[in-house]
Amino acid sequence: MSLIAQSACLLDRLPPSCTMRAKASDMHSKDCVKVAVRVRPFNKRERDAGSRCIVSMVSTSISIKDPRDSQNRRSFCFDYAYWSHSGFTRDHSGLYFPEEPGGRYADQDRVFQDLGEGILENALQGYNATLLAYGQTGSGKSYSMMGYGPNKGLVPKLCDRLFQAIRENQENRQCQVFFSMLEIYNEQVVDLLSRGSRTPCGLRVREEQQRGFYVEGLRTIPCESAPQVEQLMEQGTRTRTTAATHMNANSSRSHMLIILQLKQIFSKESITKQSNINLVDLAGSERQRSSGSEADRLKEGTAINLSLTTLGNVISSLADMAVGKKVVHIPYRDSVLTKLLQSALGGNSRTVMIATLSPADICYEESLSTLRYAERAKRIQNRAVVNESPTERLIKELKAENARLLQRLSRMGQEGRRASDETKELRQLLTHNELQIRAIQTLWEQHLQEALKDWEQQYANITQERRMMQMHPYILNINEDAQLSGVVKLFIQEGEWDIGLCDSSPRSISIKGLGIQERHAVFRNEQRRVTLTPLVGSKVIINGNAVCQMTELQHLDRLILGSNSTYLFIGYPSERGGDDWSRYDYDYFQSEMAAAEGIHLGESSMGCSQTDPSLLAVFYDYIKLMPMVAEANQMSQELSKGVEFKLEIKNLALSDSKGHDLQKDIIIRVTSKGSKQVWMWSKAKFVNRKFLMEEVYQQYQAEQNADNRADGVSAVTLSRDKDPFWDPIEPLLLGTAHLWLQSLAFRIPLEEQLEVLGSEGTEEAILQAQLVPCTSTGLPLGEDDILIDPCEMLGRRMDFQLVLDQCCGVRWIMEARNRGVQIGFRLFDCSQPLYTPAVWHNVNPLLDHRVHFASLHTSQHLLDYLQSSAVVLELWGLQEGCTHLKSSLEAVRMTTEGIFIIDNSGPSEASDVDSAELSCSLRVLQQDLEELKSVNASLRKENHSLREQLNTARNAGEGGRSRSVRPSCDGEFARALKVFYHSMTSVRGQLQRLRRHRPSEESDLLGLRLFVDEQSRLLRDFSEQLEQSVSALKQDVAAIVRRKRERSGIWS
Ligand SMILES: Nc1ncnc2c1ncn2[C@@H]1O[C@H](COP(=O)(O)OP(=O)(O)OP(=O)(O)O)[C@@H](O)[C@H]1O
Ligand SMILES: [Mg+2]
Repeated sequence: MSLIAQSACLLDRLPPSCTMRAKASDMHSKDCVKVAVRVRPFNKRERDAGSRCIVSMVSTSISIKDPRDSQNRRSFCFDYAYWSHSGFTRDHSGLYFPEEPGGRYADQDRVFQDLGEGILENALQGYNATLLAYGQTGSGKSYSMMGYGPNKGLVPKLCDRLFQAIRENQENRQCQVFFSMLEIYNEQVVDLLSRGSRTPCGLRVREEQQRGFYVEGLRTIPCESAPQVEQLMEQGTRTRTTAATHMNANSSRSHMLIILQLKQIFSKESITKQSNINLVDLAGSERQRSSGSEADRLKEGTAINLSLTTLGNVISSLADMAVGKKVVHIPYRDSVLTKLLQSALGGNSRTVMIATLSPADICYEESLSTLRYAERAKRIQNRAVVNESPTERLIKELKAENARLLQRLSRMGQEGRRASDETKELRQLLTHNELQIRAIQTLWEQHLQEALKDWEQQYANITQERRMMQMHPYILNINEDAQLSGVVKLFIQEGEWDIGLCDSSPRSISIKGLGIQERHAVFRNEQRRVTLTPLVGSKVIINGNAVCQMTELQHLDRLILGSNSTYLFIGYPSERGGDDWSRYDYDYFQSEMAAAEGIHLGESSMGCSQTDPSLLAVFYDYIKLMPMVAEANQMSQELSKGVEFKLEIKNLALSDSKGHDLQKDIIIRVTSKGSKQVWMWSKAKFVNRKFLMEEVYQQYQAEQNADNRADGVSAVTLSRDKDPFWDPIEPLLLGTAHLWLQSLAFRIPLEEQLEVLGSEGTEEAILQAQLVPCTSTGLPLGEDDILIDPCEMLGRRMDFQLVLDQCCGVRWIMEARNRGVQIGFRLFDCSQPLYTPAVWHNVNPLLDHRVHFASLHTSQHLLDYLQSSAVVLELWGLQEGCTHLKSSLEAVRMTTEGIFIIDNSGPSEASDVDSAELSCSLRVLQQDLEELKSVNASLRKENHSLREQLNTARNAGEGGRSRSVRPSCDGEFARALKVFYHSMTSVRGQLQRLRRHRPSEESDLLGLRLFVDEQSRLLRDFSEQLEQSVSALKQDVAAIVRRKRERSGIWS
């Protein structure tokens, strides 16, 4: 057994519950979990987006307002609230501190004074203490816990102060500090200080009655100075970085735990106190919000979120318990993290949580959820006790036993009895005991020596690395998690160096990662110039552009090797200057790649901070997903899955019946390379699948390493229903077209050629559709039925038909003839969409589909809808093997003739109360109507006789004038409108032609010139027609008005 393992055993003999007893005063004291919140400065993304700060703080209370509804403001109160958002300045070393002394900015020192000192104090008193950092990715958890550069976080400061306190108190106590560091990723525990190779499934978490849960075989290293601890943390971070690249894992999804064990031996009092300090940097708290409607077929089978979800459940249960609710079960055992934190939550520990958040409007949802979480946590009550034991009892007991044995021995000698057997046995016991005493007393020093030797070795490595940095160019790893960036430095010394998986050759630089080949590329460093030459088949991207030839590297060039191993090139010291490298972060690399693909925010929009926030969100989603897509493609290739992933930007306005609200979102197009089958995945689904793919891939790699597929369950031959790369074939939404319904409100027929636009704005097909107002038997209405005022239809029956004639130029079928299409649509209050029958193998499929709709009592609501909305016609693509889309007619009301009834909220649906009221007012209205009718009849009679008189008079006066009766003004208006409407139909046709008129992709300059001429001609025609129609309408209206005036002149 190694000394360190022995030391752990020794500790086990002394500590917790059985030997430790609680101080009487502590017995029933309850400690609530203390909660602090901290708000960080805006990051680059937020500044680019022109973010507004939605968080405010007064003393220990914090308010957050909904950026879409400023009236909606929530306030919370915590034990501590830290404003680290503004009011700070930076010195030359990069240290942040308040702008003015005593300013409100909370720097790292302030946070340590409140939280760190408390933890230290508790630990020195013998309490277990826990510090948890919770918050969304990038909110500042690691900044608060570990810190960056000169802004040291709570953990290093705590270690500093701990060793200082030990030095100050060394007269009355002897202290021993043990350090462990571990990571929980995907429910696997990785020892970050382990020197050996990683255990394939991670370390086991075991439970013992006395110790509770613990990690079996975790390295526990004795330390005696803060620099030693810092060096161990550096070593742990390095392991974490390489583990992340080897496992192709995202560190933001892992939890990092540092465990400091402090043992204090008070020799005078013969007492030992022991406390465990848990320092936990939790995984990013944000959840992938899966958009409910399209939940994934494969559940989040992966354990990636299990620990965090369970932590939430444990906190909720404990918070409920604290307010007196009955809680049957606290699910500690459901995850690795909660097992290890059992004592910290509701147990024997004094616990502090620091909840970190971004104050930017775009993070509202996540920040609010963090605050709610923190609020729950603050209700948790712990029962911390001082873990003290009569320490040296063991040693004392052994000493006493020795004394007794010695006495017996001397007595035996005096009595002259020659009991040689007994004496021998006693002597043996004596020696054994003495040995044990010596072992206990010397073990600690020996461990320390061993750890120090280790440390010296590490220290020598670090010194060596620093020297190399001053002599050679190197590449520096850049990680998505800023905490892990700059940890790995690979030196490029003079000469030629292979870089790749290979580690056997002495002239090779070994790296691991997805898509890295055995020999990936060659670095050449000659005459202080460094070049990089990619080898056949390997992916190398420099400053956003793929390269395949020898390229000379410049200081601060960005390299991406394989799918996503990102490095910054650092030139010779003479080239370095005082430049700030921190701007070349992970986002920078990805933005550069996106720009090379033509996706960028545009320099001008980047410059002026007025970029549309929703566009910006899409952009950042895009650059976040881009490396994930590259990794998924690489895994697909290595696992021979034959599918390819591609990011696309989807225009959400296409599915909106009002056609406005120009929002965009990202979708992932998945194509099977062989069969050309296509799937569309949402962002949430892809992210979920990506984690599942990683699991499969890691399993595959483990199999490859072990070369052991005897159990038959190979990752590569997963059954389809479990395969994250596979999905059943489903119809795909190719695009949509809007057919505006306004003409129906006036009972005017409409015939349209609609452009079906795909999610990226591409023309997917042309769809010929009609809206035909008709009688209840389906006969089209004539021109005379056109209405001037749609309100005339109120309460009356309205019939019309939607006719889908034909699709032309369907791109989906042009690409592969074995495909088909269907059109889907949903009108007004139809709960289910209706679909046309499927048509296969035809680029210009004839649909000839006619649906008759009727509203039995037309409501104002329907009239409003018709006048302001469009029916969204969805073009669905069918692929071989997928089921057709069927109209579900269950919830649909139909007449016996097969007419679909819409506007169901009409009078027939009204409630009894409403209908009673309605029939009453109807009766009153009918009476009024009768009265009005009789008044009308008498007036009409009077009119008639007056008109007769007038005609006679006029005839007498102007014998030659025409006798024809003039039409009423309304009729004239209707006719003028009809003429106008017809001319507008042809204008619209002209507009469609103009829209579709595009230059051919191969056009040369001459071709483009001809195109422009043609375009101008079409535009001229269009504007002339439009002009004519409008002026004809104007003239007609003017004539009608004039005539009306003349007539009213006569009548007045
Ligand atoms: N209080 C602060 N003051 C200044 N900068 C900060 C502060 N908090 C965070 N930052 C900066 O924000 C960035 C992200 O912070 P950090 O790495 O701590 O996030 P995190 O919460 O640990 O994220 P993850 O879950 O991905 O690990 C870092 O560049 C860090 O320097
Ligand atoms: Mg972090």
